[in-house]
Amino acid sequence: MVKGEGLIVTDSEGNTYLDCIAGIACCALGHAHPAIAAAVAEQATKLVHASNLFGHEPSATLADELAKRTGLDRVFFCNSGTEANEAAIKLARKYQWRGGQPEKLTILACTGSFHGRTFGALAATANDAYKEGFGPMPDGFAFTPFNDIDALEKNLDASVAAFIVEPIQGESGVNVADPAFLRAARRLCDETGALLIFDEIQCGSGRLGTFCAYERFGVKPDVLTMAKALGNGLPIGAMLCTEAASSGLQPGDHGSTFGGSPVPCAAALAHLRVRDETDLEGHVLARESHLFAGLRALADAYPGVYAQPRGMGLLAALPVVAPHEAGAIVAEARARGVLFGTAGGNAVRIAPPLVVSNAQLDTALGVLAGIAKTL
Ligand SMILES: Cc1ncc(COP(=O)(O)O)c(C=O)c1O
Repeated sequence: MVKGEGLIVTDSEGNTYLDCIAGIACCALGHAHPAIAAAVAEQATKLVHASNLFGHEPSATLADELAKRTGLDRVFFCNSGTEANEAAIKLARKYQWRGGQPEKLTILACTGSFHGRTFGALAATANDAYKEGFGPMPDGFAFTPFNDIDALEKNLDASVAAFIVEPIQGESGVNVADPAFLRAARRLCDETGALLIFDEIQCGSGRLGTFCAYERFGVKPDVLTMAKALGNGLPIGAMLCTEAASSGLQPGDHGSTFGGSPVPCAAALAHLRVRDETDLEGHVLARESHLFAGLRALADAYPGVYAQPRGMGLLAALPVVAPHEAGAIVAEARARGVLFGTAGGNAVRIAPPLVVSNAQLDTALGVLAGIAKTL
């Protein structure tokens, strides 16, 4: 890739593509958005780096904005999703330790989970393929079946420091949590004193038509992690938590040299401002119905190639029916000028910039239909 503007990216040979994956759900406002470019340029002339020794205006303002929008109290800034989850895991362990319960240390995660690639986040990731050759994993991690309330009742016991879950599992196939499962998790965490962590790195930051994914499920976590779309493509992650949970991390317990640097914070603030000015959340909800109607129509029209879609907001998976392969369909779509991703369970993943229009969605759906006709 050499250039991007809105949903259109251009490669080094001058070919253009309609981007329906947005750097895996990162470029919410599309590529090279003028407000982001201006905020980055302006901040770059003012203050680029302060480290975590000193406060600065962009991170303080962003912390206030995120606290307001998430309903949580405290923020730790970092540079990526995996670091946000790493911070959440450390917070949970030390929260229990400070609370006089050091034996309460298990991080319980779900089958199908993906939480990142550093050792803590990787240990909480279910898929063994990501772990192969990197063992041994850190101790104190366990898994419970996604969306299985009976198993959760059994596994979320007094040994658990925190339960971490994606409201929508992105990597393993855009699997949507049952709201009853998340409600059960909330109840069990309240009963046992475990922290409830929602990993909203892929499904949050407005992708579901609400700023936080949790708003669509009606269950509020104690800890929430975000990254990807927050800086519209600039590297920033955030771990947010309640005042009570924040006792887990005192000054000096955890840190980051670059986390919450002025330039990515300025980009994130510009992103939030544009969302408000353009009612991006209303736009996403309107596009959601168009996208899913189109995907359902594809599954109805080509049942030998596509199955019924999964997802919510502008995060969708279109399952591909064997012997056809999602990877081959994504490659063919790229040759036809539309970029998608794959997701676990042999599916095409669709996560366009949130500013996508119905006409652009129709172009993408048309390419999927065109490919199905040839199979
Ligand atoms: C749900 C979820 N958590 C964590 C991560 C890791 O984020 P990063 O790649 O920014 O470290 C990802 C990335 O795909 C993700 O989808």
